[in-house]
Amino acid sequence: MAKTTKAVFLCTDCGDSFSKWQGQCESCGAWNTLTQFKEPKGLKTPKGTISLRGYAGAKESVQKLSDVKLEELPRISSNNSEFDRVLGGGIVPGSVILLAGTPGAGKSTLTLQTLCELSHQVPAIYFSGEESLSQIAMRSARLNLPSRHLDIAAETDVLAVLTMISELKVKLVVIDSLQSMFHPEVQGAPGGVTQLRECAHALTQYAKQNGVAMIVICHTTKDGGVAGPRVVEHIADVMMHLIVMEGSRFRELRAQKNRFGSINELGILAMMPDNGYLKAVTDPSAIFLNRTRKPHSGSMVAALWEGSRSMLVELQSLVVEASQGNPRRLAVGLDQNRLNMLVAILMRHGNLAIFDQELYVNLVGGLKISDPSTDLPLILSMVSSFQNRVIPQDWLAFGEVGLSGEIRAVPSGLERIRQAAQQGFRYCICPKANVPKTPPRGFTVYSVETLVEALDALENID
Ligand code: TYD
Ligand code: MG
Repeated sequence: MAKTTKAVFLCTDCGDSFSKWQGQCESCGAWNTLTQFKEPKGLKTPKGTISLRGYAGAKESVQKLSDVKLEELPRISSNNSEFDRVLGGGIVPGSVILLAGTPGAGKSTLTLQTLCELSHQVPAIYFSGEESLSQIAMRSARLNLPSRHLDIAAETDVLAVLTMISELKVKLVVIDSLQSMFHPEVQGAPGGVTQLRECAHALTQYAKQNGVAMIVICHTTKDGGVAGPRVVEHIADVMMHLIVMEGSRFRELRAQKNRFGSINELGILAMMPDNGYLKAVTDPSAIFLNRTRKPHSGSMVAALWEGSRSMLVELQSLVVEASQGNPRRLAVGLDQNRLNMLVAILMRHGNLAIFDQELYVNLVGGLKISDPSTDLPLILSMVSSFQNRVIPQDWLAFGEVGLSGEIRAVPSGLERIRQAAQQGFRYCICPKANVPKTPPRGFTVYSVETLVEALDALENID
């Protein structure tokens, strides 16, 4: 067992380290999340001349970058287009993917269905430290999964897990969950910072040396009772979150770190109401737009750009006269500070006296985003609500609004417009630099450079 000397305190929420205990983490502001972590005794720095005896010939292991053999193995498609999208095109052999989320988000469901659907082509095993084998079998039957080729085991000793992986020669592994695993040679209770780190180290080392891909589930809790995924984030190749969209059956899948792809991709999954199967939503615009009901004031459609695709969402505003001196401003699904800034811009450059109005803005569908291209549609939806003017359902807008009231270009304007045209939209208000040379047939683009011009474009509606 490693001898331990130096003690440090780690935050179980953000993973930052401190030399002494304190009630609140200085980095993330969480309370009572610092726990003691004993680092294995390091090498002592010798005084005087450093002796390098025993390292002779070490330069043999140095290579020219161009001489390094490329060992690019084909990625394994997860059979779920949204999971693949966030992974950057599938699972890379030998990679460690950390899947984080709150209890009930669907982590076990997503990983079990992925493994079952892949097990006929890749030897795979599912380790559960939380549910019994019969519970997993019940889940598999409920989800109607092809379970014939998948190995499962209820094991929490990380060394036993690695032995099984090596004996069965599997290439794809799910660990459900990291917090339930323990390393027999390390002190501390499962789920603690020390155990979490050592288990993650052992799994990662094995995965890299043997080309085994591992999906490791890690819980996130608000109360900091167990150490969270950020403590081990640096060890993983991919770190992604499965997030429940408020009040809906949809889930957001986002990568926070990805060594093999972009972190800007957003995956949307729908939990099937009958059995809880997580299905890829290939056309998210369809779930964020409700175009069957009558149009109403305060509503405007925005075109977002998420990673490599455009997504249309509905923004809603409600502007009402304040009953008290200090009017409330509330943003749901959007950035509160950005809303305050846009209100100031609207008052200064749009000459709209809304200082005494209460303001509520909402991104329909439960999605949470911070995308500057929603500035312009958000302002237009506020104006629509304030003036009680309905914006027809075939209008949309996108563009960033600067502090001097200028409308700034955003990336991928043409793709946003194309997507809108495909969805049946016919009019778009957007920054001048984003106007395509040839807009889609039957589609009108209003090019604007200032907020005043954008508000004028809104006048064209009547
Ligand atoms: P699960 O994969 O167990 O979540 P996690 O591993 O992230 O804690 O998913 C549980 C979800 O499955 C929960 O939101 C409810 C849903 N569910 C169904 O939709 N149908 C069912 O019959 C059951 C038992 C659960
Ligand atoms: Mg689970």
